[in-house]
Amino acid sequence: MNFNKKTVRDIDVRGKKVLIRCDFNTPIDENGHLTDERRIQGALPTLRYLITSGAAVIVVSHLGRPKGQYNPKYTLKPVANRLSELLKMPVTLANDVIGEDADRLCAAIQPGEIVMLENVRFHKEEEKNDPAFSQKLASYADVYVNDAFGTSHRAHSSTAGVAAYLPAVCGFLIEKEISVIGKALTNPARPFVAITGGAKVSDKIGVINALIDQCDTVIIGGAMSYTFLRALSGEVGNSPCELDKLDVAADILMRALEGNVRLVLPDDVVVTKEFSPDADAYVVDARHMPDGMGGMDMGPRTIEKFKRYLKDAGTVVWNGPLGVFEFDKFAGSTREIARAVAESGAVSIIGGGDSAAAIEQLGFSDRVTHISTGGGASLELIEGKELPGIACLMDSDE
Ligand code: 3PG
Repeated sequence: MNFNKKTVRDIDVRGKKVLIRCDFNTPIDENGHLTDERRIQGALPTLRYLITSGAAVIVVSHLGRPKGQYNPKYTLKPVANRLSELLKMPVTLANDVIGEDADRLCAAIQPGEIVMLENVRFHKEEEKNDPAFSQKLASYADVYVNDAFGTSHRAHSSTAGVAAYLPAVCGFLIEKEISVIGKALTNPARPFVAITGGAKVSDKIGVINALIDQCDTVIIGGAMSYTFLRALSGEVGNSPCELDKLDVAADILMRALEGNVRLVLPDDVVVTKEFSPDADAYVVDARHMPDGMGGMDMGPRTIEKFKRYLKDAGTVVWNGPLGVFEFDKFAGSTREIARAVAESGAVSIIGGGDSAAAIEQLGFSDRVTHISTGGGASLELIEGKELPGIACLMDSDE
């Protein structure tokens, strides 16, 4: 996986208007406070570089999934305010991504200034990659920079379409994500161990198959492990289980067996009667969960087993929580595994919000190799898929 795209370093941005796509899709609580600002922090190096290089910077991003119409819940206002604090300079937010206010602000912007356009997904044309909408966005600038690694697996107007109308390069965040993940996966130090968690097998079929081709051990935890346990005729009680994916899970188990790859499933789980933060919890055998109870977290034997495989790992890729991490009582296995990954000394790549949050909450960020700002994007990269938001950029020899 070689990185062969032009970056902001390869073009002259002095005096130019630069449209930069960032992924500022960050969680915001009911009081409008950002609860995780990693994606904003991740964009700072490129934004600072552009400002200090004399560019006029126009930022475009999405937030959430507002389904193509204005919804105040998804305004980028809190992001613009935080960005302004971090950069210690004004960040003017246009009241829409296109239209009179955006036209006026983008026409008047001067080198060294930042304008942020409102949520690009307030317009349905964005996700349709509508050419006229892409062209309109392009009309605001002389150069396009994509630094939205987390959204680079989407072929939308602001992530890919716009590149047809402007010289298009990537920012430092995309460069770093692709280089670090690429380096770790090319000739990985062995044993190569992957941990996958999260809710749905259907979201991760491609990546689990790709991991089986590359890894020595694939650990499957979290809610999606219940589908695998069921495929092995386990009783999973009321646990979330994708009955229409039992064949897929069985195929994956077979592929691992044929490929001599160790596929590790839970031995015990923590179950409850209700899905609530303080429900009474019981540890039961993973293949004999009682009727009327559902899995909320991995059990202590499972945690110890997963940790044994991590102890001597040369490379670890981890994506997805292993329990209902948002409820403190059921965050135990995700936290324990975060600790084990950090202590393993392996080359470690963490993708996805919850796994990254667990590493951060424990203060282990500087003990892992790389915390990706991409969930779906990092999975598609590992899977070997082409990312449209990166494929559309100029090649380094262009
Ligand atoms: C993400 O959070 O994974 C990215 O911002 C992409 O968001 P999306 O899944 O709504 O396209």
